[in-house]
Amino acid sequence: MSKVLEIKDLNFHYGEIHALKGISLDVNENEIVTLIGANGAGKTTTLRAISGLIGHITSGEIRFMGERIDGIKPHKIASLGLSQCLEGRHIFTNLTVRENLNMGAYLRKGPDVKNDMDYVYSLFPRLLERESQRAGTLSGGEQQMLAVGRALMQKPSLIMMDEPSLGLAPIIIQGIFEIIKKINNDGMPVLLVEQNSNAALKVADRGYVIETGEIVLTDTAEKLRNNEEVKNSYLGAGH
Ligand SMILES: Nc1ncnc2c1ncn2[C@@H]1O[C@H](COP(=O)(O)OP(=O)(O)OP(=O)(O)O)[C@@H](O)[C@H]1O
Ligand SMILES: [Mg+2]
Repeated sequence: MSKVLEIKDLNFHYGEIHALKGISLDVNENEIVTLIGANGAGKTTTLRAISGLIGHITSGEIRFMGERIDGIKPHKIASLGLSQCLEGRHIFTNLTVRENLNMGAYLRKGPDVKNDMDYVYSLFPRLLERESQRAGTLSGGEQQMLAVGRALMQKPSLIMMDEPSLGLAPIIIQGIFEIIKKINNDGMPVLLVEQNSNAALKVADRGYVIETGEIVLTDTAEKLRNNEEVKNSYLGAGH
């Protein structure tokens, strides 16, 4: 199985704070890999390091499709086919749904943009109904659909998602996870960061547990779900 993403011994500091302490993590073709951990463990920092958003890493290697991407500018990394849905969504609230989706495709304008938009609308019929509506007026769940849709419009080789279920009602969360599974079945590898560990481990193939900047456990999602430590710390009531 070939590796889409390969991180080796990644260290990162925010000033004096050693936020990532030797992270190693892989995503293979066709996999959903989840990174789970408590508040402040370093999940978002890991994604931001991969997409180049926090600048230079302290040490380590990040490879995407076999190519070194650490030290490369975010827009360049995105144009290589690495797409992400950030925490807090970051859609353009004053633009319509359709305009937001077109923004997703700006790095790769071409004749197949229309097909990709049809694909996104087939995943999220709700977005088609609202294609002329300003994104700022969408519900939280619809905004999350739009964030995922926009990431797909980039036609990436890997999608990274930071807590797609955050702040959404259980019924909507279920829908989002079904879509993640569907996108993956259609061939897209996914790196999924979640505090909703239960749901994440249900859709994922493999998982990594991060605690204060360190990977403390990695296994198949099924084994992690049955691991006593994981159950007690991440899958109990309130998780
Ligand atoms: N810009 C920053 N400057 C300094 N420290 C930061 C900065 N961003 C994050 N940190 C610190 O780095 C650590 C990891 O933060 P990060 O946002 O990666 O955690 P997380 O696992 O995504 O948490 P959450 O589940 O709450 O989103 C935290 O201790 C946080 O306070
Ligand atoms: Mg976070």
